[in-house]
Amino acid sequence: MNIIVTGASKGIGKSLVKFFSNNKQHKVLAVSRDISALKELQNTCTYPVQILSFDITKCEDDNSLLEKVKALGSIDVIINNAGLLINKPLTPLNGHEFDKLFNVNVKAVFLLTKQLLPYLRKGSHIVNIGSMGGYQGSSKYAGLSLYSASKGALAILTECMAEELKPQVISANCLALGAVQTEMLSEAFPDYKAPLSPDEIASFIADFALKGHRFFNGKIVPVSVSSP
Ligand SMILES: NC(=O)c1ccc[n+]([C@@H]2O[C@H](COP(=O)([O-])OP(=O)(O)OC[C@H]3O[C@@H](n4cnc5c(N)ncnc54)[C@H](OP(=O)(O)O)[C@@H]3O)[C@@H](O)[C@H]2O)c1
Repeated sequence: MNIIVTGASKGIGKSLVKFFSNNKQHKVLAVSRDISALKELQNTCTYPVQILSFDITKCEDDNSLLEKVKALGSIDVIINNAGLLINKPLTPLNGHEFDKLFNVNVKAVFLLTKQLLPYLRKGSHIVNIGSMGGYQGSSKYAGLSLYSASKGALAILTECMAEELKPQVISANCLALGAVQTEMLSEAFPDYKAPLSPDEIASFIADFALKGHRFFNGKIVPVSVSSP
């Protein structure tokens, strides 16, 4: 399988790349901005993976990801995992921060996926990494309003993507994750210990990305064992 993982420099994305690299059959492209972290990751992978320093918010101006994908020929799985969290109460949050959050968590996913569509094979799977914060009816937490709203938007975007991509036999699902012990979680809940490690959730996400679209399409799947 040809697999793209965004947000691969740390946390869940890094674990996902390591997990996929255990299988010689997969060609993995690991994308994020921090090239030294990506090089470190590359050195720990079982089988070789490709890395690319790339800002997903610049995908309209930077062709480097597209060039890599052209060289690969086609894509079977995209995991839109890169994400940004700003922990701040509603009142001091401003329009610039709104744009920053929505640019990474929603707009870049829309633009990047659109750009890569011509290379998505029939039967491919787009997995958007959402959050329980963006899942309707879930517990909400102070400081996470815009982050949660952006993940809510991503969830609905996923439902719509799945509908429109049906004729091309491309599936799209959103995994609304609960707490996983990463830098982002520490930013949101500094004193909280998550029940799941990045490696544990990565094995679930990887399995879902490879097989889940036989059972789910256009779904927002809550993946959580805790609150938060
Ligand atoms: N951890 C949790 O409890 C939790 C819960 C629910 C949902 N999630 C979601 O799971 C995903 C992964 O989260 P995490 O906890 O692993 O976060 P993390 O440790 O903060 O990692 C975030 C990743 O996103 C990348 N990224 C951010 N902005 C980017 C940009 N403009 N272009 C390219 N890459 C960018 C970062 O890489 P660079 O800085 O190198 O670019 C980094 O690799 C996120 O979408 C997050 O919202 C996490």
